[in-house]
Amino acid sequence: MTEMQANSSGDRAPRRILITGGAGFIGSNFVHHWCEQYPGDRVVVLDALTYAGNRKTLASLEGGDNFRFVQGDICDRPLIDVLLQEEAIDTVAHFAAESHVDRSILGPGAFVQTNVVGTFTLLEAFRQYWLSANKPESYRFLHVSTDEVYGSLGPTDPAFSETTPYTPNSPYSASKAGSDHLARAYFHTYGMPTIITNCSNNYGPYHFPEKLIPLMCINILMGKPLPVYGDGQNVRDWLYVRDHCRALDLVIHKAAPGETYNVGGNNEAKNLDLVHLLCDLMDELAPELPVRPAKELITFVTDRPGHDRRYAIDATKIRTELGWTPLETVESGLRKTVQWYLDNRDWWQPLLSEEYQAYYQQVYAAAAK
Ligand code: NAD
Ligand code: DAU
Repeated sequence: MTEMQANSSGDRAPRRILITGGAGFIGSNFVHHWCEQYPGDRVVVLDALTYAGNRKTLASLEGGDNFRFVQGDICDRPLIDVLLQEEAIDTVAHFAAESHVDRSILGPGAFVQTNVVGTFTLLEAFRQYWLSANKPESYRFLHVSTDEVYGSLGPTDPAFSETTPYTPNSPYSASKAGSDHLARAYFHTYGMPTIITNCSNNYGPYHFPEKLIPLMCINILMGKPLPVYGDGQNVRDWLYVRDHCRALDLVIHKAAPGETYNVGGNNEAKNLDLVHLLCDLMDELAPELPVRPAKELITFVTDRPGHDRRYAIDATKIRTELGWTPLETVESGLRKTVQWYLDNRDWWQPLLSEEYQAYYQQVYAAAAK
């Protein structure tokens, strides 16, 4: 079997993978997935450790012979040049980003810098490196992106497919759309082996508590209000993070350069229904709660400016071409996730800093304007 034909379950040559944003939510789950699946691979994590990055999440891997953590910025071209060469990288899995829509509304500049300039810096560094190595066939650059680039759906619109036109609505999604276009152009113009994935909302362990699901879990545990934006009828399509990681693994091993895949769990839920489900799970699984039933904590707050109404992913292409299917349903995945937040207070408690509280005051003040 050649390296090109190798897949994630069969014979394969070891890879030397650079994972950007590997101390964040999805990136860290992917690092754990990769190290479990491919212990013979070299894994190099590059992460700036912004508020969203947490090195503690990777603690069990530190010190391993095949693992290296580098604190650094994806906009730092000399650093990236050195890492690619020194580590003889053949695969980049690019997760590093500013990822939170509410923060992009408060301060879009960091989103343009990291998501657009940072992705460009990585692409350009990898292009030079790939060229100087004579364009090896096995090299891959995976650009991890979002379904938010497609904009917002009406209640009966078909789900987003790979051919849906881009209509990003927030500074976050606009910056991700820009980076997707760059990754696509690097394949089209230079033949560089980029692959793009656009995924729906992830949830699971190591999720920073600014996003809906971890925020609700933690507020329930602390007896704090559960802020539901607007009428709570916005729809998101939820995917357990390890199912996303399995999809990315398949894409790295099996997708042809230049391809794009949508990834989603076919699990559409209205925000309010999802929050009800979380409350019920907490009532069932938490031995002690300050307020029970937890639903009493639900509070409707002013809507997010420009709030997209509905996202839904059509994952037919990755299912039929690469054989991917999610293993978790929203019920099984949420149960695992709630249990994880109950069991891992040591991970999330230190994140609730003064800076974090100040951030929330800003979000609600901006929405109220
Ligand atoms: P996250 O915010 O949890 O993590 C981002 C990580 O990137 C952090 O560890 C942070 O320290 C690091 N980072 C930020 N700026 C950096 C820089 N300039 N240089 C190096 N590292 C930097 O994000 P996430 O939710 O894990 O998302 C990861 C990727 O997946 C993003 O590209 C996001 O757009 C995409 N995505 C996320 C979701 C989701 O539901 N969370 C869904 C689809 C796609
Ligand atoms: O669709 C993929 C995207 O999913 C990713 O690209 C983003 O990085 C990720 O943050 C996520 O974006 P959302 O804006 O959909 O996720 P968030 O968890 O912020 O919000 C989910 C929904 O819940 C959304 O409709 C807004 C609503 N919400 C969110 C928060 C934080 C609330 O009602 N209350 C809240 O406090």
